[in-house]
Amino acid sequence: MNDVKLIKGADIVGRGRADVLVRGGRVAEVGTPSAVGAEVIDADGLVLLPGLVDLHTHLREPGREDAETVLTGTRAAAKGGYTAVCAMANSYPVADTAGVVEQVATLGRAAGYADVQPIGAVSVGLAGERLAEIGAMADSAAHVRMFSDDGHCVHDPRLMRRALEYVKTFDGLIAQHAEEPRLTEGAQMNEGAVSAELGLPGWPAVAEESVIARDVLLAEYVGGHVHFCHISTARSVEIIREAKARGVRVTAEVCPHHLLLTDEKAHTYDPVYKVNPPLRSGADVAALRAALAEGVVDAVATDHAPHAPQDKDCEWSAARPGMLGLETALSITVAALGGPGGADWDLVAERTSRTPARIAGLSAHGRDPEPGTEANFTLVDPAETWTVVPTELASLSQNTPYAGMELPVTVQATFLRGRATVLDGKVAEEIK
Ligand code: DOR
Ligand code: ZN
Repeated sequence: MNDVKLIKGADIVGRGRADVLVRGGRVAEVGTPSAVGAEVIDADGLVLLPGLVDLHTHLREPGREDAETVLTGTRAAAKGGYTAVCAMANSYPVADTAGVVEQVATLGRAAGYADVQPIGAVSVGLAGERLAEIGAMADSAAHVRMFSDDGHCVHDPRLMRRALEYVKTFDGLIAQHAEEPRLTEGAQMNEGAVSAELGLPGWPAVAEESVIARDVLLAEYVGGHVHFCHISTARSVEIIREAKARGVRVTAEVCPHHLLLTDEKAHTYDPVYKVNPPLRSGADVAALRAALAEGVVDAVATDHAPHAPQDKDCEWSAARPGMLGLETALSITVAALGGPGGADWDLVAERTSRTPARIAGLSAHGRDPEPGTEANFTLVDPAETWTVVPTELASLSQNTPYAGMELPVTVQATFLRGRATVLDGKVAEEIK
């Protein structure tokens, strides 16, 4: 394998058209470098983005390797243009010890398709009762900074307070799945006109908003950093906007599906549209798009939630919530943010790469190519479209809500420390 690559003619986001010389996994030169003997990659007409960073990925290993593994999940990530993913803690066993987070990080390194940063659980077994061994996970070889009980809300305010205080000591953060459980008992979909019509128990927006409001106050009180996972309502945006204006340390992510799909999809009774938090109203979608463009919402995060067929191919009420996201997130983000003149690539880079890298503390990612930076980036064809075919996805699962849809932009290549994890739109067989 050639250690020296010359990526020619790409439109580099934030800089313009230039060639990039990569040597030993790092950017050696940007401009018009000449490199005799380099492997030349023709990137004419392609956009070069810093590699995408996902703050919220369910890789399912250990425990549910029938739905996804670290290997298949990171292949899906690479195919979607990602160079780093944060692995959620709701595995079996739960990632609530140094041993499990180190295992996940080791599996990520062995696979080689994307950097895998484990997220630690806030509470033992995600049970919401006792704090997990946060300090041991932070001090472990996995260097955990972000903690989350995702799938469950840290609903006990005392536990949330202690968690925020604890992670503050090493500049960590708590990623909250905001859902007041008493308000969502038995819930199947967004509470509103469609749930009333279909007779399905509703998940009211206020179950999310009330936890966000409380946690903003707790974060402000203790001076800690709270990050809100997958926010889904217009009122959540307003609470976060006001908190940021007051200087509270709060960040937020939105998922691609909440930027595109609405609760009208429940009319199909197809469980592929069942997700937690649920698909909301058109007004919520519009507010989330605007907030993402504006920066009140900091980042796009996939909540990539692969599920095995037996957990999805059943009646709506029995199905698990969650949908695939890694391979479609960039396209959906472009579609959601896109203006009449096409994508604002600088904004896309900000929300899918630079800012999530900063939130996760992944300093080698989310960097525009400059001499000395790690060569973590992705090449995108802005003019090509593609049609989503579930069986063609790299993920082990097929629960994509976009099957058959034609989406804008394709990922042509992804580079992790200079190695092509994806080339010509295809995932590398193996990374050595
Ligand atoms: O839809 C969801 N699926 N929401 C979550 O919070 C968890 C996730 C999962 O693990 O499947
Ligand atoms: Zn969640």
